[in-house]
Amino acid sequence: MSKYIIEGGNRLYGTALIGGAKNSVLPILAGTVLAAGESIIHNCPRIRDVELTIEILKCLGCNVTVQGNTVCVNAADVTDNYIPMGLMNKMRSSVIFMGAILSRTGEARCSYPGGCELGARPINLHLKSFKQLGVEINEQAGFLECRLEKYKPGTVQLDFPSVGATENIMLLACGQEGTTTIVNAAREPEIFDLQDLLVKMGAKIRGAGEGIIEIEGVKSLKQVEKTVISDRICAATMLFMVAAAGGCVELKNVNTSHIESIISVLRGCGADIRLTDCGVNIKVTERIDAVDMVQTMPYPGYPTDAQPQLMAALCTANGTSVIKETIFENRFKAVGELKKMGADITLGGEMAIIRGVKKLHGANLSAPDLRAGAALVIAALAAEGKSEISGVCYIDRGYENLEGMITDIGGKIIRV
Ligand code: UD1
Repeated sequence: MSKYIIEGGNRLYGTALIGGAKNSVLPILAGTVLAAGESIIHNCPRIRDVELTIEILKCLGCNVTVQGNTVCVNAADVTDNYIPMGLMNKMRSSVIFMGAILSRTGEARCSYPGGCELGARPINLHLKSFKQLGVEINEQAGFLECRLEKYKPGTVQLDFPSVGATENIMLLACGQEGTTTIVNAAREPEIFDLQDLLVKMGAKIRGAGEGIIEIEGVKSLKQVEKTVISDRICAATMLFMVAAAGGCVELKNVNTSHIESIISVLRGCGADIRLTDCGVNIKVTERIDAVDMVQTMPYPGYPTDAQPQLMAALCTANGTSVIKETIFENRFKAVGELKKMGADITLGGEMAIIRGVKKLHGANLSAPDLRAGAALVIAALAAEGKSEISGVCYIDRGYENLEGMITDIGGKIIRV
């Protein structure tokens, strides 16, 4: 089990290159199952969740090769439609395969998905939408057997703009006859990236990013070559790192329109943020200011995936900040660990009140999940003294070589 040892208190200077988006690459790799040929996906981050996704593809009969950040998926022979429980348990986004497998084979079998424990994380919206579109679902003791005899195109109204449910419907519908409309669809950039993949494969889809997605099914989809968009949450993590520790860092390969809500919060904190040709530059010379209130929302609102990192930076801000978490009920898991470092945080339901202290101090910490783990790294880099962070396996689920990126900008971090 790896852990990080971080010596805090150093300002950060230099350049960091942001890699491909975790939340984009996972549905895109699932989407390659739709074409009976070899698809080539570039800019895939080398993270644990991609490794798990590749394992699922192999279980389905796909031939997968990896070269650097390029993954080639040959889905000429999809010989199975079953995802073993051991893989479903490890990653929530394994559920995205259901739409793709159903579309390709007419059947899908799996258990309920696992992943970071951020709350109940049900899949009722996925299943309700599938049923409405003609999928028969037999559910027994946590095991799901889905069968598609006759697709029923029509309008699916999502009660909440779920990212995963929107992706699952897109993956199912694009290979089925008729027109499917998703109303109240998620608008995240990763949805747009999936639409881009599917259009390149020959699907007729429009509306991603606008809330209503219209999909006209086509008979068959073709193999594709595609580059994954850059990871806005990784960019946000690096920005909050500099906000907390101070310094001046340029992030390259960032689509700044994807991080407008984050830039706006950081500017409100007094960070000097400049947009560059291919990314963003952040300069922080003194303690940042607190924020009145930041509330997590579906895109284009402030992302829940960047909430713990913001909280970590606000621990040493000038004044008192309030964060309201509206997406996941269990997303304040970093709080207990941050308090060990001297943070002054009060929790009440969806709200966290963060009273900024002058300095945090190093401590022995444990990463409770992916983004909370990233938050602890941020706090440790800003703190005085040495911190040890165990549970780095969670951080590895979503960040490629985080310690390398931090070392390149002058942070003192080693993995042991
Ligand atoms: C995706 C992201 C995750 C991010 C989240 C919200 C991936 C691989 N993961 O997760 O990093 O934090 O979006 O931006 O892209 N819900 C239901 N029933 C459902 C589905 C969702 O009640 O059937 C609820 C969830 O419990 C949660 C909210 O809706 O409270 C948002 O979930 P959703 O948008 O589906 O997130 P994921 O796709 O799981």
